[in-house]
Amino acid sequence: MGDDEPVNVKEYQQLAKQALPKMYYDFFAGGSEDQHTLKENVEAFKRITLRPRILVDVSKIDMSTTILGYKTSAPIMIAPTSMHKLAHPQGEILTAKAAAACNVIMGLSFSSTCTIEEVASSCNAVRFFQLYMYKRREISALMVKRAEINGFKAILLTVDSPKLGRREADIKNKMIAPQLKNFEGLVSTEVHDSEGSNLEAYASRTLDPSFSWKDIAWLKSVTKLPILIKGVLTREDVIKAMEIGVEGVIVSNHGARQLDYVPATIDALEEVVLTVQGRIPVLFDGGIRRGTDVFKALALGAQAVMVGRPIVFGLAAKGEYGVKRAIEMLKDELELTMALSGCPTLSDITRNHVRTQIDDHR
Ligand code: FNR
Repeated sequence: MGDDEPVNVKEYQQLAKQALPKMYYDFFAGGSEDQHTLKENVEAFKRITLRPRILVDVSKIDMSTTILGYKTSAPIMIAPTSMHKLAHPQGEILTAKAAAACNVIMGLSFSSTCTIEEVASSCNAVRFFQLYMYKRREISALMVKRAEINGFKAILLTVDSPKLGRREADIKNKMIAPQLKNFEGLVSTEVHDSEGSNLEAYASRTLDPSFSWKDIAWLKSVTKLPILIKGVLTREDVIKAMEIGVEGVIVSNHGARQLDYVPATIDALEEVVLTVQGRIPVLFDGGIRRGTDVFKALALGAQAVMVGRPIVFGLAAKGEYGVKRAIEMLKDELELTMALSGCPTLSDITRNHVRTQIDDHR
């Protein structure tokens, strides 16, 4: 091992910072406005403590599970994050290869820099496709079709972004979005008239802020794939999601890049889980940086977690190897956490294995 070989995923962030131009590093690392929620997403995990059980036979630990019926080596997925070619010249293709090597599920962003077809043909990982709703709805429908034809297994419909959150670093840096290859010949990503973040100008030109609950029926009419709603934070909305009939929800605040001052996702998780009562799968993302964080999310009722920035930072620092290592480190840490907590299988992890601030006030 070299001196700069990271021993945890947080150390990849430093390496990524050294490797990337400031504009791109800030884009990947940043959150919106005061970045209050960005800090909270990580800090809130620290306020949850573990309640391990002793003298359990933990000589064999099994982290494997299924998500929507698809086998995975661990309840850890790659979150859909945009524009991996800004992190590494080969972009999402390498991320997908790492997912396949680690036998975990990959979420591919609608705003990827490699095409749906390139990602599909470069690896046999189970892949879910993340969807944004464009004003030109036929473009969103076309992407869903392409994902379906290319063997993606589910649609992650992101609902927290009717408009792009205000990311001040991108405004200052005059962040330039590259041409997104999926849309070549359909939409030009090039925006010449913006003062600040090009990305913001592009988003306001394309995203459809009128898309609402009633339009989910339209999405169902154009795909047979299961639909998971990504960006649920409240009891009120998960009730609506169940009424409308989706296959799952993802508790997410978009890595704190959209509305600032929403709660840390780990603080919002239990409200959703208690409302769902096991009727549909609840996935989770935001601030996962340790195996103990994964364990805490599972204990609070998530079926699996998705990881965003650590993957991109791994990719920026060391390409496919970096992504693999980031996933492996989280898996290894989860395995150790399960052993030290007396939980040989995922179903042994219960609400009683964590103590939250809500418990302190009971
Ligand atoms: C994102 N995220 C995101 N989500 C989405 O639905 N579509 C997208 O294109 C993107 N793009 C994106 C880019 C970057 C650079 C980041 C950091 C995040 C949000 C992502 O799916 C996930 O919700 C968060 O990344 C989870 O938080 P952590 O793990 O980054 O703390």
